[in-house]
Amino acid sequence: MVEPTPTAQVYLDSQRVIGEISPYLFGGFAEHMGRCIYEGIFDPASPHADEQGFRRDVLAALAELDFSIIRYPGGNFLSGYHWRDGVGPREQRPRRRELAWQSIETNQFGVNEFMDFCRRMGTAPMLGVNLGTGTIEEAAALVEYCNAPVGTAMADLRAAHGYREPHGVRHWCLGNEMDGPWQIGGLDAEAYALKAREAAKMMKWQDSSIKLTLCGSSGMDMPTFPEWDRVALEHCWEQVDYLSLHTYVGNRDDDTGSYLALPHRLEEQVDTLAATLRYVKARLRSRHEVHLSWDEWNVWYKDMTMQGGWTEAPHLIEEVYNLEDALVVAQWLNLFLRRCDVLHIACLAQIVNVIAPILTTRESLLRQSTFYPFQLFRRAARGLALDAHVEAPHYATQRFGAVPLLDVSASYDPGTGTGAVFLVNRSQEQPLPVELLWQRQAPQRITEAVRLAGADPKAANTFERPTGVAPTAITAPSIVDGAAQLLLPPLSLTVVLTADA
Ligand code: AHR
Repeated sequence: MVEPTPTAQVYLDSQRVIGEISPYLFGGFAEHMGRCIYEGIFDPASPHADEQGFRRDVLAALAELDFSIIRYPGGNFLSGYHWRDGVGPREQRPRRRELAWQSIETNQFGVNEFMDFCRRMGTAPMLGVNLGTGTIEEAAALVEYCNAPVGTAMADLRAAHGYREPHGVRHWCLGNEMDGPWQIGGLDAEAYALKAREAAKMMKWQDSSIKLTLCGSSGMDMPTFPEWDRVALEHCWEQVDYLSLHTYVGNRDDDTGSYLALPHRLEEQVDTLAATLRYVKARLRSRHEVHLSWDEWNVWYKDMTMQGGWTEAPHLIEEVYNLEDALVVAQWLNLFLRRCDVLHIACLAQIVNVIAPILTTRESLLRQSTFYPFQLFRRAARGLALDAHVEAPHYATQRFGAVPLLDVSASYDPGTGTGAVFLVNRSQEQPLPVELLWQRQAPQRITEAVRLAGADPKAANTFERPTGVAPTAITAPSIVDGAAQLLLPPLSLTVVLTADA
């Protein structure tokens, strides 16, 4: 007989607060890679295309995810990209061999189309400047092109391209993964820092209201981590507002127990970089603050096709996501809430087709398993992140030893008196009884409870069976004497929404 799992307790207090949840934690990333832009967002040949060539069905599905900010145009693509190629009359834009992904870039989609896309989506743009093959002058010229009022050369060029009003782009990235040997024009920390600082100065002289993200080292397993971050920050501290981090994870050993515990370990990456920020700030005796921008994060390990064979819109890294991937994504979102004190931006990489929650064919669209945790968090996580105290039984993992079965985050919006608790049961076999215990003031009621769960960690949505992994509403438990009881099935995400009145 299997022993019943002991009950886990989650203690919540609306006054025990971690910090404000930045809406920019629910961002996305769109790169000129594979079929993210072409055949994804923009596909004039699709039966779903509107008069501008945008896919109506893609825009509608993206609207459900409601990305608050979208980073563009790369990624590794950025380091060989000259933005002038993608503006002006379409028939005059060059077709180029794109070296990062060995593809053909038609330049039919560029900065202005991206701005139109962002306006349609109601999302904030985050533009990268090329610090690989690009110059600091080219970077500053793009800020002028986007943000200056008409009357000078670059702004007048924008007006001549049909956009008299400035685009008003506030968020900018200083290159991409510049420590990576794979990066076009990669640099060492010192060389990057000097180039980034000079680019930053010119860009902020063009528009002092912009916010800049400095490239951090491109992963925790890189030899550059975290020394690169320290060096780059020491040179650029006063000029920048965010330090980027990138992470991709996967279940390469087909060890689901360890995989489901992996997000637990990602906390280390945040801790180390948060400590580096504090160290540099103290060392420089600065009053300026720099926060973290996790501007590429996702599961990526199954489809490693990265060479386009010099074709347009090749199928590259079109990862198919399953239930266990969705539960990893859910825990990552939990982590964002728990570390919202230092983490202010995060961009899911990417948004369509390329390691994305949405897959398309010319005719149809599929919401993958990972679509749903993002949607649930985006909808419910508002206001303040609460410091939930969790007591849960542990399970044994091969890679990380004993890890709690339960992963939790919680939010509370004092403005509306609404709250949310996000709970992942990592067990593959055991239902987990959980008690939610509100200390001090408990909410009046649980207004809604939603669950994403399944018996098979490898279950995935397909075009033939598109809703195999999708959330369902469950009966909302009552709050009695400040407590509510839940039974979390194995392999599940449960979201509980509360109201004070
Ligand atoms: O998102 C795919 C690629 O992963 C990006 O282009 C790059 O920045 C990262 O290595």
